[in-house]
Amino acid sequence: MKYVIGNWKSNQNITESLIWLDELSALRPSFSPELTVILCLPFTDIASFNQKISDLGLPIISGSQNVSHLPPGKHTGEITASMLGELVNYCLVGHSERRIEFDETSEIVALKARYLLENAITPIVCLDTPYLDDQVKQLFHHDVDVSRCYFVYEPILAIGTGKPINSTAANHVASQITFLTDNSSPVLYGGSVSYDNAASFVQESYLDGVLVGTDSLEPTLFASIINSLS
Ligand code: 13P
Repeated sequence: MKYVIGNWKSNQNITESLIWLDELSALRPSFSPELTVILCLPFTDIASFNQKISDLGLPIISGSQNVSHLPPGKHTGEITASMLGELVNYCLVGHSERRIEFDETSEIVALKARYLLENAITPIVCLDTPYLDDQVKQLFHHDVDVSRCYFVYEPILAIGTGKPINSTAANHVASQITFLTDNSSPVLYGGSVSYDNAASFVQESYLDGVLVGTDSLEPTLFASIINSLS
């Protein structure tokens, strides 16, 4: 199985997200049964997006971009894994933007992954080399079953720059992730992925897919990426 995951970050309100789905559907991308397509959305979009996917019969799965590291209780404003369990099957954790802007540590990321798994949601754990070892150590320390996680190598310098790293270098780090986690979970690459480079990553032996930021916002570009991997 190969994977393409979109990350809309803090973009698209409900209306815009539904228009995006109409536009993508009209483009009729060639969805292969061998390709899993996941869109990680703002919390506010998820319920109506799920309804529309079902109405249009699109083989797209919704995901979340974040979750609380706390259990249900007195934590005003937090969205817990138990709440998300009714809405999504996947959730990003540990994105470098959250580490930088919200001081998220490897321990917080591990707690999020644990609560997600307890609620049958697959954590998609984002990693970069400076904290790769520490993050994996924290996952094991918090008894996270890493065989049920997905991993993404996202070098910070390649995010949003239009300059991806080359696929051989990405494959090398992906092999390290596979070695450190000692399992065969999917490992993806993220950072300036577009339709003209997506296939080069997926062809590498330790890489199973791509995580797309900017080019997931534009239906024509996202459809081109799906076509290039199908
Ligand atoms: P870009 O595709 O815009 O580089 O973003 C990558 C990313 O951060 C996905 O999570």
